[in-house]
Amino acid sequence: MSDASFLLLDGLTLAYGKTTAVEGLNLSIRRGELVALLGPSGCGKTTTMRAIAGLMPVKSGRIVLDGRDITRTPANRREVGLVFQSYALFPHLTVFENVAFGLRLKGMSGKPLEDKVLAAIASVGLSPFANRKTPELSGGQQQRVALARSMVMEPKVLMLDEPLSNLDARLRLEMRTELQRVQKESGVTMIFVTHDQIEALALADRIVVMRNGAIEQIGTPEDIYNRPESAFVADFVGFENIFALKDGQLVTPGGTVPIADAPADTAALAWRPRAVALGDGPFSGVVRSSSFAGSAREYLLDTPLGPIKAEADAAHPAHDLGDTVSFGLPAATAATLRRFG
Ligand SMILES: Nc1ncnc2c1ncn2[C@@H]1O[C@H](COP(=O)(O)OP(=O)(O)O)[C@@H](O)[C@H]1O
Ligand SMILES: [Mg+2]
Repeated sequence: MSDASFLLLDGLTLAYGKTTAVEGLNLSIRRGELVALLGPSGCGKTTTMRAIAGLMPVKSGRIVLDGRDITRTPANRREVGLVFQSYALFPHLTVFENVAFGLRLKGMSGKPLEDKVLAAIASVGLSPFANRKTPELSGGQQQRVALARSMVMEPKVLMLDEPLSNLDARLRLEMRTELQRVQKESGVTMIFVTHDQIEALALADRIVVMRNGAIEQIGTPEDIYNRPESAFVADFVGFENIFALKDGQLVTPGGTVPIADAPADTAALAWRPRAVALGDGPFSGVVRSSSFAGSAREYLLDTPLGPIKAEADAAHPAHDLGDTVSFGLPAATAATLRRFG
């Protein structure tokens, strides 16, 4: 077993009855890596995690963890932890007893149990709350209990299914930092599911973008953010202006448009709003809407190429609705996509 493929999903196909939810998934995760599964609702993220945890039968393919084929191993013998979106804590038990639960099931008791549980509770910053019942805790604190409850079992892989989606914006940020800290300190291999690209970009060592039960792209946050391979991924990470490229021409709703320095071997070009050269270029559009976004102002332009979203530094004088503005789509500021779709 190499550390480079600590967890290996090899041609994994998963189905609910006749409905295939995940097909031919290949993924290799390093020991200690924090991987985010990113994708829209229904793309197969939860199904994949449930299969790794042993809560979902594998139709074909293999799951190998730390050199051991666990494809048919019962869930309780996989050394895999799964934290659900709903924390599923026991409301009648204290924080201590919630965290102790799994270890008691394994027959641990007395001082060894107490030491382990208190250390896990401390690692998520909840020591002062060890004797509280869980309904007396805030959403963020309950999330930490769920995390401690999984961590205390010392899983080889810890998986979290949209762990932050029930929290408000401020708590999400706080828990994001907390998760990253716990992961780095413990060195646990972690798979984190989200449909929020910001969360994935901020947290992950590597991002796996899923679509319709298959992997669309795997890469570092920088790869995914700056070098999306398909229009699907580009759209997911905030590119707004995406056009197919054919014979050096952009294919737009208003017809084909020649583009200077168009790269070869590229199926499509995509520009983030701020990559559109506002006020500088061969095209023109009419301002349809304008919104202030703090450091920038965002514009929606009606243009012969169809709608274009552009962004200008908020320090620039604002354009009014109905103004005609010129703009350019410089090939140099575009992401080059291998697939339009
Ligand atoms: N219990 C189930 N029975 C039948 N189909 C399901 C079940 N759970 C999920 N699915 C289907 O499997 C696909 C993947 O779902 P899921 O893994 O939950 O997606 P995600 O977590 O990415 O939102 C979807 O098409 C979904 O409708
Ligand atoms: Mg899900």
